[in-house]
Formats: sequence, C-alpha cells, structure tokens
Amino acid sequence: MDQKIEIKDLDLFYGSFQALKAVSMPVYDRQITALIGPSGCGKSTLLRCLNRMNDLISEVRITGRALLDGVNIYDRSTDVEGLRKRVGMVFQRPNPFPLPIYENVVYGLRVAGENDKKTLDQTAEKSLKAAWLWDQLKDKLHQPAISLPLDQQQRLCLARLLAVEPEVILMDEPCSSLDPIATAKVEELMLELKKDYTIVIVTHNMQQAARVSDFSGYMLLGEMIEFGETKTLFTNPSQKLTEDYITGRFG
Ligand SMILES: Nc1ncnc2c1ncn2[C@@H]1O[C@H](COP(=O)(O)OP(=O)(O)OP(=O)(O)O)[C@@H](O)[C@H]1O
Ligand SMILES: [Mg+2]
Repeated sequence: MDQKIEIKDLDLFYGSFQALKAVSMPVYDRQITALIGPSGCGKSTLLRCLNRMNDLISEVRITGRALLDGVNIYDRSTDVEGLRKRVGMVFQRPNPFPLPIYENVVYGLRVAGENDKKTLDQTAEKSLKAAWLWDQLKDKLHQPAISLPLDQQQRLCLARLLAVEPEVILMDEPCSSLDPIATAKVEELMLELKKDYTIVIVTHNMQQAARVSDFSGYMLLGEMIEFGETKTLFTNPSQKLTEDYITGRFG
C-alpha cells in the first residue's frame, strides 16, 4: 500500500511544553486513518501538523519530518497555501461562511480567480453531490448556509473542501456536534469518499474508529503508543497501554 504521508520523528513544542514526542506514523493512500487517545494526548496537534495549521499558532516549534508524496511539507520551499489545498481540513464545529450555500461551495474557486458561471455551477453541483447534499439543497442554493441544520452545515463544509479537489482530508471530531443519525450518514459518506481521498480522522468515539477506519494510532501524552490495522489494534493490541484504553480501564 502506498504511503500518502509519512510522519517521521515529529516533535512539537508549544513554548517549552512538548506536545508531540518523536511521533512516527504512516498515512496510507485512500485509506481512513483514525487517531485515538484521551483528551490532551495530542491528536488535534498531530492532525494540524499535516497541513501546517500549527504555523498559525505563535510559539510553536516543530522538528522532524512529514512527507507528502515523499516531499517534506516542512521544507522551507513549501507553498503553504498550496499545501492546505492539497490537505484540507474539516473541524469539530461546522464553520460555514456567512454567505449563501452556493457561495460557500465555490468560495475556493472564487478566491483563486474563477468567475466563469458555468464552471462555478458545475463545481457547486459536483461538490454538493459528492457530499450528498445536492438533492436537498439544489432548490435553495441562494439561502444562507447558516440557516441549515448542523449536519448539513458539516457536509457543506466538506463540499466546500471537495470543490478545490484536495488529496487528503483531515477531520477533527467531525461528528461531535451531530446526533447518531447524522453521524451514521457522515460515516457512510467517509467510506464513499475514501475511494478518491486519503482521510485522517480524530475521534473520541472508539466505536466510530472501529467502524470506519482501516488503520488506527493510539496516542498518550504526546507519544504514538501503537499504530496498526484497526482490526488488530482493537482486538489484539500489542501494547498493554492500548489494551487498557480500548477496554475502558483508562481514559
Ligand atoms: N495553542 C496551544 N498552546 C499551548 N498548548 C496547547 C495548545 N494547543 C494544545 N495545547 C496543549 O497540547 C496538548 C495536546 O493538545 P491537543 O489539543 O492536541 O490534544 P487532543 O488529543 O486533541 O485533545 P482533545 O481530545 O481534548 O481534543 C495538551 O496538553 C494541550 O493543552
Ligand atoms: Mg482535539
């Protein structure tokens, strides 16, 4: 299996606090990788490393490497805007822009200077279809995105991401504000999207990790304790610490 991303010996410091300790991990192409572990173990921090979102936080220092298709994203020559287009992110709370549904979806294209109506229309339709929203929203494209129910807002944010054709999708607890039915829909959508995209998800929900992911990494206090196939990690972990966590004795 090809590695889309290879994380090697990554250390991250917030000021003098070390939040990631020599983390190494593969992210396989067109697979779903889940990051699990107790609150504060560094899951979101590690996820943000993959598109350099931590650059936006002052006092952050990173050493080590994260290779995207073999090229270190921490190279000085990296075009960070371009990187964030290739490696897009969906957050815990849906964050649609205060714009109509249509304008949310085509936002990235507009910013890139695209003004051709036909191109924008086609992209909007294709992206909304890919996020399973087209049928519900095609007649209200000009309504404010903020008026949608939360689960549709979350999938709209996904559609906005898909419109700029990323290669990797990072999701930080994407279902934590959704009810079980909406969660099931997002999980099903993830399984569909992995045909075309590499997905990394942070989740607190171990059933969710077990249901959707192919590979899982268990983190504790900034360290990657165990990484492996989800099936193995959940049924036959090699580390006592992992076993304690997944059997609920800890965390
Ligand atoms: N901007 C920041 N400045 C300083 N410390 C931070 C910052 N963000 C996170 N941390 C610290 O880094 C550690 C890892 O935080 P992180 O948010 O990555 O954990 P997490 O596993 O995502 O937790 P949760 O499950 O609660 O979301 C924690 O100790 C946290 O307090
Ligand atoms: Mg987090």
